[in-house]
Amino acid sequence: MREVAVIGTGMTKFGELWDSPLRDLYAEAVADCLKDAGVKRDQIQSAWIGCMTSGLFNGQEHLASILTDYAGLSGIAATRVESACASGGAAFRAGWLEVASGASDFVLAGGVEKMNDGADATYCLSTAADQEYEVYHGVTFPGLYAMIAKAHMHKHGTTREDLAAVAVKNHKHGARNPRAQFPTEITMDTVLNAVTVSTPLGLFDCSPVSDGAATVLLAPVEVAEDLGRPYVTVKGSGHATDSIALHDRSDLASIPVVKKAAEKAYAMAGVGPKDIDVVEVHDCFTIAELVCLEELGFFEPGQAAAATKAGTTALGGDLPVNTSGGLKSKGHPVGATGIAQIIEIVEQLTGRAEGRQVEGAKIGLAQNMGGSGGSSTVHILEVS
Ligand code: COA
Repeated sequence: MREVAVIGTGMTKFGELWDSPLRDLYAEAVADCLKDAGVKRDQIQSAWIGCMTSGLFNGQEHLASILTDYAGLSGIAATRVESACASGGAAFRAGWLEVASGASDFVLAGGVEKMNDGADATYCLSTAADQEYEVYHGVTFPGLYAMIAKAHMHKHGTTREDLAAVAVKNHKHGARNPRAQFPTEITMDTVLNAVTVSTPLGLFDCSPVSDGAATVLLAPVEVAEDLGRPYVTVKGSGHATDSIALHDRSDLASIPVVKKAAEKAYAMAGVGPKDIDVVEVHDCFTIAELVCLEELGFFEPGQAAAATKAGTTALGGDLPVNTSGGLKSKGHPVGATGIAQIIEIVEQLTGRAEGRQVEGAKIGLAQNMGGSGGSSTVHILEVS
């Protein structure tokens, strides 16, 4: 396997982007990425595009062809990748494998979702849950994560305030990210007094419904060296799957797929949780950030809440988490999220995270998750 580098990044702002059709979002991210890398369109050999459900949101299938065509890349190999909200992470892994295998030298790994396009977002998203055993009975994603939150509270004593502290922190980070959907600081009172979505989760415990696209360019490390621009190396890639339905799992207070993916990524990278300087995790709901941090081995089960309240996971703390604002504040256009997480880590490691820079960060981790934990990817990146 060849060592692979991320040599360019590009993304749109996240938010309710009514004036930007799906194809324009992807084209904008690609143009931004190629400019950043200093690479021309005719050098690109292949594109992997994470998208959860453009068929339901936008009525558009055959996605990879139409998107690459409008991005000026017609003729290249292009494939859409689906793993629910982990589609972006899975697309990144597919692109990494293509370059690592020696099959191609310049490969785009991207993601896109346009969720504000008419179709009901709650319905579209629910197709990533178990239709027969969960959705048929009326459960939505806020409902599934509310059950995980209640189990975590019961087992570990986690409180409503513990969940709110995650939202306050991530909005504080997102206020420093010009591409965030909600770049505004909020208080504990805002979170605790917001309308209830699914007990115990309120409006500010939820990631929003978002539009956006993100793309990175991958190449072998030798090519990156020749280009002479800043790059980061992919040190570890882990991907795992699990039962979709919560009732098929033995412990609702955990999300085992994250641990499985992390173990693979740590083993490949030859590092452990203590070596990581900056982290992006899949905080689709506040409880998800706490559980994912525990599954990734940063804290013992039940201990991530205390660390959050102590400031450990905030900018300036020992382990800054979701410096981009996370899904909560930056937004969550589901197919694009996994790539946007990678971009935040790349910007942190190359010293380009203006206004929210983690000084001296050398190794970063990005964890992306599908549904309520039916799939997950973990990637570990390093700057030399
Ligand atoms: N965080 C903060 N503010 C939010 C928000 C969020 N998640 N979602 C909406 N808002 C704001 C809107 O900007 C709007 O503000 P305004 O009145 O000042 O303009 C207001 O809240 C109402 O917005 P609206 O779009 O009507 O909210 P909604 O009730 O339709 O949707 C949720 C709110 C929480 C139900 C929706 O964001 C949601 O479903 N989130 C979860 C998405 C999800 O499941 N993703 C997959 C994860 S696995």
